[in-house]
Amino acid sequence: MAASRRIRSSRSRRRVKASNTGSNRAGDDAGWIQRQIAAHRPGTSLAQPFYTDPRIFARDLERVFARQWVFAGHVSRLRQPGDYFLFSIGNESIVVVRGGNGAIHALFNVCRHRGSRVCLEPQGNKRTLVCPYHAWTYANDGTLLSAPAMPDGFDTTQFSLHRCNVRVVEGLIFVCMGDPPRDTEPAFRDWEKFLKPHGLPQAKIAASMVWQVDANWKLVVENFGECYHCGPAHPEYCAVMAHALPDTHRAKRHVDEFTALTKKWEAKARDAGSLAGRVPEHPGAAHVCVRLPIRDGFLTQSRDGRPVAPLMGSFREYDGGYTGGRLYPANYFVACCDHAVIPRFTPLAPLRTEVEMIWLVREDAVEGKDYDVEKLTWLWKVTTDQDKKIVDNNQAGVNSMAYRPGPYSNTEQGLTQFTVWYLKQIA
Ligand code: FES
Ligand SMILES: [Fe+2]
Repeated sequence: MAASRRIRSSRSRRRVKASNTGSNRAGDDAGWIQRQIAAHRPGTSLAQPFYTDPRIFARDLERVFARQWVFAGHVSRLRQPGDYFLFSIGNESIVVVRGGNGAIHALFNVCRHRGSRVCLEPQGNKRTLVCPYHAWTYANDGTLLSAPAMPDGFDTTQFSLHRCNVRVVEGLIFVCMGDPPRDTEPAFRDWEKFLKPHGLPQAKIAASMVWQVDANWKLVVENFGECYHCGPAHPEYCAVMAHALPDTHRAKRHVDEFTALTKKWEAKARDAGSLAGRVPEHPGAAHVCVRLPIRDGFLTQSRDGRPVAPLMGSFREYDGGYTGGRLYPANYFVACCDHAVIPRFTPLAPLRTEVEMIWLVREDAVEGKDYDVEKLTWLWKVTTDQDKKIVDNNQAGVNSMAYRPGPYSNTEQGLTQFTVWYLKQIA
C-alpha cells in the first residue's frame, strides 16, 4: 500500500505542476473532455472522440482501468512459487507472480533504479527478478534484494517494485493498479456464489486464443454486451443459444418460447438444488450474474449440444444450464457444467484492443481422451472471429466525418447503463 501511495502522490504532483505553470493544455483538455461528456444524450452511442481520441483514451486508462478491478489471468498459470506472467494494459506492464510463500503479487514492471522493464519474457519462472539494465535484483514479492555500488546509506527497503492490489475470485486473478473501488464487494460475492459450483480453482487452461481488434475498447465491450447483432452476425451462436434470437428481434414467438423454456428449466434446476435466475434484480448495477438454460436438449455450449469435457466442480449431471457474469468495466465469464470461457478485453491504444479467451476444463482432464480442443473451442472461436470482423467495421465507420451517435434498440439497454457508468467514471 505504501507503494501505491507513492504512485498517487507523484500523480498529484504532476497535477499541481500543470496548474502552476498555468497551462493550459491540461486545463484545455479537461474542459474539452467535460464538454464532450455534458453533450452526451443517454440512450445513444457515444460521440466520435470517445472512440478515437488519444486524450480520452488516456483518461480511460487513468480513471477507469487504473481504478477498477481488471481480470488478469487464471491461477493455473502460477502453480509454483516464482511462476509469473506479464499483463499489459495501455502503457503499463504488470508482473503477476506467485511468491515464495504462495501469495500472488502484481508488480509494476518498472525498475526502481532508472525505470527499465525488469521482466521481458511474457511468462516463466524466476526465483528473483533481475533488471536487465544494471542488475538490481528483486524478490518475487517486489522487495529490492540488491543494488550494486550504491552510495553509503542507500536504503533498499525504500525501493521495492510498486505494487498493484490483487484479488483472487474462484481461481480468477483480478488486479487493481490504484486504490480498489469501495463498492465491489457485492459484485465479487455474487461472482463467487455463481462460480463456486464450477470448480474453477481446480481447473486448467485447455486452450487460449488472442485477437487483435482494430477498435477502441468501448466498441469491443459494447459489442460483447448486447445480442442485437446475434441474429445478423452469429448464425452458430444462434443455433446453440436459445436467448439469442429473442434478444435480437424481440419477436413474440421467440420471446414466448424462450420464456417457457426458462421457466421450465429454472424450476427443474431449483428442485435439483442448483442456482437459477439473475442477480442483482435491479437494473443499473455494475455487475450481473445469471444462470439460464442453453437450449432445449443442449447439455453444453457445443455444436450438437453434447458434452465436450468431464463435469467440473460440484456438478453431478449435465443440467443444460450456463452461468454468466459481468463486472464493469470489461470483466466477464461464461461457464457450463463441463468447461468455462473467460474473455479478457485489454485496451492497448485508442484504436487497438486485445481480446484473449481462455477455455478452462477440469485439471485432470486429458486432451484427446476427455476433450477435443476443436470441439471445446468451436462456439466461442467462431463467434469471436465474427465479433472481430464486425467491431473492426464498426470502428472504421465511427472514424468517418459522417458518424453521429445513434439510438440504442430495446435490446441494447444495457449499453445505456454502461455508457452512463463510464461517463461518470471519467467525468
Ligand atoms: S534501470 Fe534497472 S537496474 Fe538500472
Ligand atoms: Fe458478438
